[in-house]
Amino acid sequence: MEPKKEIKYNFYHWGPFLFQSTITDEFKNLILEEGLKVRGKSDESYVKKLAGHMKEEYKLSPTRFTEHFKHYLEAYTIGYNQWRGNAGMKPDASLLSLWINYMKAGDFNPPHDHSGDLSFIIFPDVPEEITKECNDFEGTMRGPGGVSWIYGDGGRMCISAVHALPKTNDIFIFPASVKHYVFPFKSAVTRISVSGNIRFDAQDSRVNYFEGKEPKKDG
Ligand SMILES: [Fe+2]
Repeated sequence: MEPKKEIKYNFYHWGPFLFQSTITDEFKNLILEEGLKVRGKSDESYVKKLAGHMKEEYKLSPTRFTEHFKHYLEAYTIGYNQWRGNAGMKPDASLLSLWINYMKAGDFNPPHDHSGDLSFIIFPDVPEEITKECNDFEGTMRGPGGVSWIYGDGGRMCISAVHALPKTNDIFIFPASVKHYVFPFKSAVTRISVSGNIRFDAQDSRVNYFEGKEPKKDG
């Protein structure tokens, strides 16, 4: 019997880099406090600027937020550079916009994307009722309150959708062009999330990605 041959192989990372981490309680509390300053103020409403089917979306002040957020952006760039290999993404970026959502029963976000280079969603308060409602869901995709990101043309041999049920303190960072959507829930609770867009400071953002060098040739 011939000895079994070990086949050596490489494979290529493909598609967007979707980052998930957990924020500190200190950061969470700061977000909730800042939210209370704008909640209910019609002149701070962001409803007309956003895709969401929600009544409570407000512009949030970036002043205190940025000090905490910058650490997660740094972590994103470290992760991205490792994932892509030979990449030189730097966390030199500006916050373009920042808003807070108070999502209630029946609210949802249809498939949409954002402006800028990267976008993020942070969940400072996800009531337990939503987790239970989602876990009771019997369908094949993510249930009530879930978030989905979709990419590519949906080939069956590809990963073209990623689903998550956010929990309190989750943060997700992803390329702004990646389409995503949020399923409605029925529980009589309010889920709070914060989103925003950032743009790399260099005029040509590719400078940030490769430091002027050619990206690694994969094939
Ligand atoms: Fe969004």
